[in-house]
Amino acid sequence: MSKPLVVGNWKMNGLRADSTARVKALVDGLRAQPAAGVDVAICPPFTQLALVGSLLEDAPVALGAQDCHKAERGAHTGDISPEMLTDAGAAYVILGHSERRRDHGEIDETVREKVVAAAKAGLTPIVCIGETEDQRQSGETESVLGWQIKGSLPDGFTGVVAYEPVWAIGTGLAATSEDIEATVGFIRAELVRQFNESGKTLRILYGGSVDAGNAGSILTIPNVGGALVGGASLKPDAFLSIIHAAPGA
Ligand code: PGA
Repeated sequence: MSKPLVVGNWKMNGLRADSTARVKALVDGLRAQPAAGVDVAICPPFTQLALVGSLLEDAPVALGAQDCHKAERGAHTGDISPEMLTDAGAAYVILGHSERRRDHGEIDETVREKVVAAAKAGLTPIVCIGETEDQRQSGETESVLGWQIKGSLPDGFTGVVAYEPVWAIGTGLAATSEDIEATVGFIRAELVRQFNESGKTLRILYGGSVDAGNAGSILTIPNVGGALVGGASLKPDAFLSIIHAAPGA
């Protein structure tokens, strides 16, 4: 199995001054207490990619983005292509986050097309799936996740899957370890069904109110290969604690 992967999703947060302070604190923290057994990435907003990328030079932290367009270039005002992201130094891109599905009407097909384009450009896509509170209440979690996996992940997928129950994002209420174990086990079985042998080793992250207090128990759940962290990734001390809570850190 690969190393755990801890990804910070800054969402729509970050101006030059606070981005600089945050990255410096993270890099200093990792110099003082290395976490060589963990892959770490941060995904700032587009406008901070160049700055953050320059601050991460020689640091054991990869750069990622939060979305991309499916096309290589052209008449798509306001959009960013996968190649622009690699050119800016990004190695990862988050795709299909529930906030993009909600705010921009992204559906599984949109996400799948972006995943194909991102992989073609050499990025590692981190594809988010997760059920809403209503879907969970009505017992649809597995069918929703099954459809999202089928619809969002293209043939030959080699990226990362992030299980993010929508009701757990930004609420301070992470799913319980029992629920995460059961649901991530289901996701693993679906990945094996869809991708055979390679489905056994695809990384599955958990996301949704991961913080310094719960990271240790979440990151040791079977089949959980890391975390996608929103709010706590904006606080260097909390993010460092999460990184150091990963097995093998
Ligand atoms: P949160 O966000 O950690 O603030 O819940 C996670 C995410 O949306 O990726």
